[in-house]
Amino acid sequence: MTRIGILTSGGDCPGLNAVIRGAVLKGTEVHGQEFVGFLDGWRGLVEGDAIPLNRSRVRGLAQQGGTILGTSRFGPYQGPNGGAQNIQKTLDRLGVDAVIAIGGEGTAAASKRLFGEGIRIVGVPKTIDNDLSHTDYTFGFDTAVEIATEAIDRLRTTGNSHKRCMVLEVMGRHAGWIALHAGTAGGAHAILIPEHPESLEQICEWVTSVRDRGRSPMVVVAEGFRLPHMEEAYSTKGLDGFDRPRLGGVAEFLAPLIEKHTGIETRATVLGHIQRGGVPTAFDRVLATRLGMAVTDLVAEEDWGHMVALHGTDIARVDFDELAEPKYVPERRYQEMRIIFG
Ligand code: F6P
Repeated sequence: MTRIGILTSGGDCPGLNAVIRGAVLKGTEVHGQEFVGFLDGWRGLVEGDAIPLNRSRVRGLAQQGGTILGTSRFGPYQGPNGGAQNIQKTLDRLGVDAVIAIGGEGTAAASKRLFGEGIRIVGVPKTIDNDLSHTDYTFGFDTAVEIATEAIDRLRTTGNSHKRCMVLEVMGRHAGWIALHAGTAGGAHAILIPEHPESLEQICEWVTSVRDRGRSPMVVVAEGFRLPHMEEAYSTKGLDGFDRPRLGGVAEFLAPLIEKHTGIETRATVLGHIQRGGVPTAFDRVLATRLGMAVTDLVAEEDWGHMVALHGTDIARVDFDELAEPKYVPERRYQEMRIIFG
């Protein structure tokens, strides 16, 4: 019987538990596989810290946010027990034959390296940012967009009451998918994304024209957005576990500038981790469950070095390195909405 270790790595994402449940249900029922869960991402694999996962342990998990396994930004090559050779020894000691890694671009890159060094590993893509290539959507994105859209709806009513300009900041380090989708759904008057710098003058022109029509301007900005003179995204909070700048706060940076240049009282809201918490939407539960089920087929067929992905409405298989390529908002998608800003 094949024994599989599952781990969830990187920032959490609504739907991770649904993947775990989908994998354990199909794996045990259809393929006769057995499962353990490594705790706190790669740390659990590197240190051999695992818990048994069976049918009763995954009961009711489809609707539960977060990850029952915990996650971290710990890398598989970190620490005295890291690296493919040590990991293989740990897997042998635990009697684990294969690894399912659920994670984003960093996890895909690390998985590819481990696969190249002999680890039997497959993966499931994850990120609320929806910025992984070769998969049409990642689970968690739909949930984040719903939460951000609700925030826009709420900010618009209070903004209207006070005739204020409201600026909402959403996540999106490299790509502005959440800003674009939530901003479109919520009827924002300007959407600012990392892929397309906009000048302060242009933003203020949109804001002023909205106010001149008697409306309260609503601006949605992704955390990774830059004004043309900014070389890096706005960051004042040091580095994260992967040595990347911790983003967050660009809305608070922009709001006083907009107020100063337009004379319109402007308030900022940073949505932050609210976007990653709570129950997944039905769409994300379905996608996550299907991906979890499908990844057990990869193990059954010993199709190592691949991840499952969504192509149209079908679950497909892609190489780890294909997924590690970022998926940016194409210029034509941005221009499609930009013509109605202001
Ligand atoms: O990678 C997904 C993401 O949501 C980014 O948009 C954001 O910069 C990052 O996670 C923040 O994660 P954390 O605060 O957990 O380090």
